[in-house]
Amino acid sequence: YYLIRKCAIGVNLMDTILITGGAGFIGSTLANYLGKENKIVVVDDLSMGKKENLDMEKQVTFIEGDVSDPQLMERIMKEYQFAYIFHLAAVASVADSVERPLETHRVNFDSALLLLELARKYQSDLKRLVFSSSAAVYGDEPTLPKKEESVIRPLTPYAIDKFAAEQYVLDYCHLYDVPTSAVRFFNVYGPNQNPNSPYSGVISILVDRYKKQLAGEKAEFTLFGDGSQSRDFVYIEDVIQALLLVAKEEKALGQQFNVGTGKSTTLLELIHSIDQILGTELALKYEAERSGDIRDSLADISKIRSLGYKPKFDILSGMERYLKSEIN
Ligand code: NAD
Ligand code: UD1
Repeated sequence: YYLIRKCAIGVNLMDTILITGGAGFIGSTLANYLGKENKIVVVDDLSMGKKENLDMEKQVTFIEGDVSDPQLMERIMKEYQFAYIFHLAAVASVADSVERPLETHRVNFDSALLLLELARKYQSDLKRLVFSSSAAVYGDEPTLPKKEESVIRPLTPYAIDKFAAEQYVLDYCHLYDVPTSAVRFFNVYGPNQNPNSPYSGVISILVDRYKKQLAGEKAEFTLFGDGSQSRDFVYIEDVIQALLLVAKEEKALGQQFNVGTGKSTTLLELIHSIDQILGTELALKYEAERSGDIRDSLADISKIRSLGYKPKFDILSGMERYLKSEIN
């Protein structure tokens, strides 16, 4: 019975799972997937996420609130016994963190330490807490691809907080036996990424502009820098695969894992590919590079591969699938 319960994600036993930031892009996709067979509790302040992202037919309890609010979080952690916690709530934009370092620190760092303390105190049945760290922790040290043990050189409040929080998360496993793991996502894209902020993920903004252009509206995309910066863009379905593996594998305890594809694409290559898929040419406006922006980013994914991860999408097949769901 114990062994079956340890593998309960994805099989028929009902677990209670907390997803912070669960109305956001990655969180809502995960909640909708896991909600088929588990009881999901989502905490989100709706600063970027939307309630409509959540399929409420599934077993989802939505709590609107701030994940760094100690009273709220203590109430939730006392009320439920979670089998899994996915801590995804954050100010997700690097550029936004450069504008608002204090606010970012509260949300991206304080909430993580708070959650760890509350888990230590109240969550004796917890099987895993998974923290969403970022490729941003590697910063601009030029050696590529990035391995988990590569040089860490965080350049922005976002990256500093992600690294500090990630280290606390892993240390709680070593010091207090709280079962934790961390994932360093590279650049995730796919349906339900909110394009409406200037700080949104670049692919969500691009797709929004293409949709406008195809609808006959005036559309222009602002490219910061010369477009030769590159990212390891990873499709949301592969990210869900990675999160589930890391959450259930014993070997992942106390460890951090890159989540990417192992291939990188420049912004100009990406735009040219979408132009070709959609048979159009998006108007570009060039502006100065954003401060704190990383030039090149690429994951070495051998560590997560050793858990059985195998990305199903490259940038072309992922973009085709995403565009098909957005544009008919
Ligand atoms: P997102 O903005 O769509 O999701 C984050 C969610 O957190 C949003 O729904 C937002 O409303 C919520 N939130 C923000 N502040 C909150 C607060 N104080 N209290 C409660 N909820 C709050 O972003 P995402 O792309 O889904 O990112 C999820 C996580 O993954 C974040 O931690 C992000 O830093 C990390 N990450 C994302 C990427 C990526 O490429 N998308 C890459 C690396 C790491
Ligand atoms: C992204 C994620 C961050 C994550 C990191 C991991 C978001 C909002 N950011 O940051 O959470 O930790 O990957 O690698 O999900 N750009 C433009 N025009 C625009 C928007 C962006 O040219 O309108 C450029 C940026 O300057 C940057 C590139 O596109 O060079 C990617 O930007 P962005 O999508 O914000 O991603 P990262 O900063 O890499």
